Amino acid sequence: MEYINVALDGPAGAGKSSIAKSLAEELGYIYIDTGAMYRSIAVYAIESGIDIKNQRNLLINSLDNINVDIKYKDGTQHIFLNGNDVSERIREADATKGSSDVAVIPEVRLKLVALQRSLAAGANVIMDGRDIATHVLPDAQVKIYLTASVEERAARRLRQMRERGTDGDIKSVEEDIRLRDKQDSEREFAPLRRAEDAVLLDTSDMNFEESVAAVKKIILEKTGELDHVL
Ligand code: DC
Repeated sequence: MEYINVALDGPAGAGKSSIAKSLAEELGYIYIDTGAMYRSIAVYAIESGIDIKNQRNLLINSLDNINVDIKYKDGTQHIFLNGNDVSERIREADATKGSSDVAVIPEVRLKLVALQRSLAAGANVIMDGRDIATHVLPDAQVKIYLTASVEERAARRLRQMRERGTDGDIKSVEEDIRLRDKQDSEREFAPLRRAEDAVLLDTSDMNFEESVAAVKKIILEKTGELDHVL
């Protein structure tokens, strides 16, 4: 008997977290949002006055003082930074930009990858991120690379922002996504890329329900034959 690990990777705004959240609930898996962990490190840096790009060593030397923890309240994931619930704070624009900047630092990645692996070792999980199939969980039984056109991803991101009560304009959201795509896929250590054995799913022409159904089908096909804990 083994736990099932589902690795769901892809660029910003591809819909990974909404799909993963919905399916985790439906299939009884634990959802792990690894982007939230990078965002929390960015919040630590911002709130400690550390300039991520120019004071990289200061941030690296502070890593032992940073405790990132995930807890579940009423079925939703909350992320804690040194004991404070930062689940909302990490969605702000400075944390979004900063998360991609901290994510290029190998020491940050090593710290968070250790946490991600320990969470995946003890439960059936759907873990979303950029390097889950290629680096964090190379033995995951299910690997999916989810993508969509930049225009579609920007439109979805803007809708999500408006639902949360923040506004923005489509051009700057699109520009931000292009920049993060570039930085996330060009970094040296564990960049964003599709694992050779990951199923590629382009959701540009699918609505949310169709995307969820497509991901679910892949998970059920891949896990159908396995003797796993449910
Ligand atoms: O998925 P997200 O937008 O919350 O991720 C925020 C940033 O964190 C993203 O720009 C790149 C980084 N990230 C990463 O490098 N590796 C992961 N596994 C998850 C996120």
